[in-house]
Amino acid sequence: MSGNSTTPAQPAILVEGLTKRFGERTAFADVSFGVDYGEVFGFLGPNGAGKTTTVRTLGTLVAPTAGHAAVAGLPLRPENAVEIRRRIAVMPESPGLYLRLSVAENLAFFAGLYELPDASERITRALRAVNLLDRADDPCRALSKGLRQRVGLARALLSDPQVLFLDEPTSGLDPVAARDVHELIDGLRNRGVTIFLTTHRLAEAERLCDRVGIMNTTLRMIGRPDELREQLFAKSLEIRTRDPLADPDRVFGALPGLEGWHRGADGAYLLAVADPDLAAPAVTRALVAAGADLLSLSPSRHSLEDVYLQLIDTDVEAQAR
Ligand SMILES: Nc1ncnc2c1ncn2[C@@H]1O[C@H](COP(=O)(O)OP(=O)(O)OP(=O)(O)O)[C@@H](O)[C@H]1O
Ligand SMILES: [Mg+2]
Repeated sequence: MSGNSTTPAQPAILVEGLTKRFGERTAFADVSFGVDYGEVFGFLGPNGAGKTTTVRTLGTLVAPTAGHAAVAGLPLRPENAVEIRRRIAVMPESPGLYLRLSVAENLAFFAGLYELPDASERITRALRAVNLLDRADDPCRALSKGLRQRVGLARALLSDPQVLFLDEPTSGLDPVAARDVHELIDGLRNRGVTIFLTTHRLAEAERLCDRVGIMNTTLRMIGRPDELREQLFAKSLEIRTRDPLADPDRVFGALPGLEGWHRGADGAYLLAVADPDLAAPAVTRALVAAGADLLSLSPSRHSLEDVYLQLIDTDVEAQAR
C-alpha cells in the first residue's frame, strides 16, 4: 500500500450528494451513503436506476456532475484517479475480453496494462479462484457466457483490490455457476475485501450483503435487509385454522398489542401486532378457548424482494401522479 494509506476509521466508500447527469438526463441524483471496509454492500434498483453509472463514477471512469466521494481512502478527484484505480477493481456488466486471445493471454494483457508485478502468479491465483485453471489455454470465443463472466471476475481479482465493484456478476449465470460466484464473494469477504455489488437477484443480495441500498435515480432506502423489512412492514402473525373462525373479532379482539387483522386470500388470518413474541401465546390461548383447531402460527416473513417491490411500486405510483 502507498504512503497515502487509509486510516481504519474511514469508510471504504463515502458518497455525499453525488449526482451524475448526461445532458438533460439524470442518471442519479443527490446520493449519499457509506460502505465500511470489509462490508459486502448490495446496490439494487430497476433498469435505468443509475447503478452502473454509480459504479462507473466511483470507479473513476466518468466524472460526477456534483457532490463528493472518497474511494479506498482517497477523495474522488481527477488527480487521484490513477491511485484510486490501483486500490480498486471494477468488473463491468460485460467482461470486455479479447475473444481471439486465450483466457491466460487476456489476463496477461490486463496484468500488463495495470503494470502488475508477478503477473504469472497472479494469473494462476485468479484462475484458481474462479475455477478456470483448466481452461487457461482456451480462446475466450470458445467459452460460454458464464465462463466468460468468470474470466471477467478473474480479471478483476488480478490486482488484489481493497474494494471490488461487481456489476451484476451473476447475470445470465445458471444456478450452479451463480452459487460458485456467491462462494467466491464469501471467500473475498473472509479475506477482508470490500465488495460493492449491483444485482437484480434479490435473494442473492439477501444472502450475501451486510447492507443494501435501493436506488431509483435517488437512493430510496439503505440498511440491513432485516432493518428494511422492519421499516416497511408492520410485524405480523400468520394463523391457519382447520375451519374458518365463527367470530374472529371476538377471538382476536382481546389480544395484547393487536393493531388489526385481515384474512388473506389463502384463508390465513394475518394479525398486525406490536410484538409477535408477546401476542403468539395469547393468540394460541384464545384460539383454544374458542374451540378452534390451530394448524399453524408463525411470524409472517417478508423477503427483501417484498421490500424491493413495495418500494419500487410506490415509486411507479409516485411517477404516475
Ligand atoms: N453514457 C451515457 N449517456 C447518456 N445517458 C446515459 C449514459 N449512461 C447511462 N445513461 C442513462 O443513465 C440512466 C442510468 O443508467 P444506468 O446504466 O446507470 O442504470 P442501471 O441501474 O445500471 O440499469 P440496469 O439495471 O439496466 O443495468 C439511464 O437512463 C441511462 O440511459
Ligand atoms: Mg447496469
